[in-house]
Formats: sequence, C-alpha cells, structure tokens
Amino acid sequence: METIKNRRSIRKYKSEEVQAELLNQLLETAARAQTMGNLQLYSVVVTRDEGMKERLAPAHFNQPMVKGAPVVLTFCADFNRTTQWCLNRKADPGYDNFLSFMNAASDALLLCQNFCNLAEEKGLGICYLGTTIYNAGQIIDILNLPRLVVPVATITVGWPDECPPQTDRLPLESFVHEESYHDYTPADIDRYYSPH
Ligand SMILES: Cc1cc2nc3c(=O)[nH]c(=O)nc-3n(C[C@H](O)[C@H](O)[C@H](O)COP(=O)(O)O)c2cc1C
Repeated sequence: METIKNRRSIRKYKSEEVQAELLNQLLETAARAQTMGNLQLYSVVVTRDEGMKERLAPAHFNQPMVKGAPVVLTFCADFNRTTQWCLNRKADPGYDNFLSFMNAASDALLLCQNFCNLAEEKGLGICYLGTTIYNAGQIIDILNLPRLVVPVATITVGWPDECPPQTDRLPLESFVHEESYHDYTPADIDRYYSPH
C-alpha cells in the first residue's frame, strides 16, 4: 500500500541499465494479472536499442523520456496469437471486432499496471506515454506489429534521477457513487476541482 501511496511518475532516469533478468522477473510476475478467459490477449515489445528509440521518439512527440530511459515498453492488445492458435486447429476465431479489441486492451492494460506497481516496488521509476494511442499507426509500423496487434500503452522505465512532488487527486467522494450514480451540481464540481 505504501509504495502506491508514495508513488509519482518519473521522467528523468539515471544512465544505469535495468537488467534483463529483473525486467523479465517483473514481467513474468505481472502476468499473474487477471486475463479474459485466461487467454492473455497481450504482447509486450521491449525497446533498448538506441536506433529503435530514435525511431519511436517522433511517434511520442519527442517526449525526452523515450531516448532518456534505458527501457521503453510497448504493451499491445494482441489477438494475433490466439487467432493463429484457432486457425491452426481449424477453428473459426472471429476476433476481428471491437468487443475483442476491448477485451485484449483490458488484458494488456492490466498487465501493464501490474508491471508498474511491481517495478515501483523495486525502486524503478516509470512514466506512461499517452501518445501511443494518438500515434498508434506509426508505432505499428515501427515495431512491425501484425494485424490484430494494437499498441495501447507505452511506459518508459529506469532508475529515478528525480523525485518530483506528488500530484493532487480528487477527493474520494467525487468519484465513488454509493449504489447508483449521483450526477454533479455546479457547486459539487467547483468544490471537487478547487485546490484542497
Ligand atoms: C494513459 C496515460 C497517459 C499518459 N501520458 C503521458 C505522457 O504522454 N507524458 C507524460 O509526461 N506523462 C503522461 N502520463 C502520466 C500522467 O501525466 C501522470 O500519471 C499524472 O499527471 C499523475 O501524476 P503521477 O503519476 O505523478 O501521480 C500519462 C498517464 C496515463 C495513465
């Protein structure tokens, strides 16, 4: 609990490597995450190569973390592997649709967030890059992602070289609704979004 309570996104990293053994341990443990029908509808592309980071950077609007972090991870919703499994067994997969994409995206994001929690517990710093969704097409080309594989989250990972202040959060009552949704009055909105 304390690790999550004290966490913040880290955008500056030491030049020290993140060992492959540690990264793989974290990914393997993260994969204990819940997954739709236990199908594990995800893939993760690990980027360490400077040339690949150079190519990815513009797709992330040249946010400095891409080239500044020792590791960049791209989490992908992946129905390609499961589809191949079905086809190889002469089954009709039928996963090329929005519902399947949402299931695969959920799996990939759960894996990603599990990884983030575990990484932060080990003292690593991470930052999500929302540019992945914005420029998914470019990232698909650069990482050579096949049909039915869509990047849904990128995180930069490294040993922290900063400790920024924690950001604010909305108060609990602003986002928890007892029994049914209670819509907001203008006064509620003002109260929740004023500094506290
Ligand atoms: C889906 C998502 C996309 C994000 N995209 C970016 C981004 O492109 N660049 C960035 O610097 N931070 C990005 N962040 C980090 C948020 O800005 C950060 O989590 C938020 O401001 C709260 O700060 P904290 O993580 O330090 O608590 C993203 C976070 C999420 C969850």
